[in-house]
Amino acid sequence: MPPVEFFLIQGDITKLSLDAIVNAANESLMGGGGVDGAIHRAAGPDLLKACRALGGCPTGESRLTPGFRLPARHVIHTVGPVWKGGHNQEAALLTACYRNSLERAAAEGIRSLAFPAISTGVYGFPKAQAAAIALQTCQAFTQTPSSLKMILFVTFNADNSDVYRHAAREQNVVLRNDWDDEEVERPCP
Ligand code: APR
Repeated sequence: MPPVEFFLIQGDITKLSLDAIVNAANESLMGGGGVDGAIHRAAGPDLLKACRALGGCPTGESRLTPGFRLPARHVIHTVGPVWKGGHNQEAALLTACYRNSLERAAAEGIRSLAFPAISTGVYGFPKAQAAAIALQTCQAFTQTPSSLKMILFVTFNADNSDVYRHAAREQNVVLRNDWDDEEVERPCP
């Protein structure tokens, strides 16, 4: 079983033509700013309609919708914890976001998946600790075979890219930086 490939890519997650991208949403699933706003703008109004029908999502859990006008086929919405100092289960809840998103992806037969840096923007989660949780959780999950073949960690600026590279070195995780859109054989519609 070839190992699942991890990639680090800096840019706009809404441009990625993958089986799924993960949205850092809020519990209402009614959209917002940051990556949530970008995904809703790119997906179009049908995404909001689909999210409304889901009736929200508790922190740490995940929900799946189509990608609509996005190049990605699906969106996995997850709600990260708001950072309140680190003594309110924030690390456990962020771990749950990654794990529940991975489980949701595998249940759907998804092969290529991209994560933004969940909770590290508006929600204020320390970037280095969040990157470590992201890599650790994905590394642990991918020890068990699943449909997942490639996982992309998408950063929005150079500082956060350095944070992920540092976390990967700390954990001895190979984080490739040679992502090429051709890597994804577009799944049959
Ligand atoms: N592509 C990739 N990453 C992005 C993009 C984008 N288009 N836009 C923002 N980011 C990055 C931010 O730089 C940050 O590193 O996503 C990370 C997560 O930041 P936020 O989007 O602010 O998400 P979060 O911190 O989880 O806060 C969620 O913000 O937008 C609202 O509705 C959302 O209430 C929820 C809250």
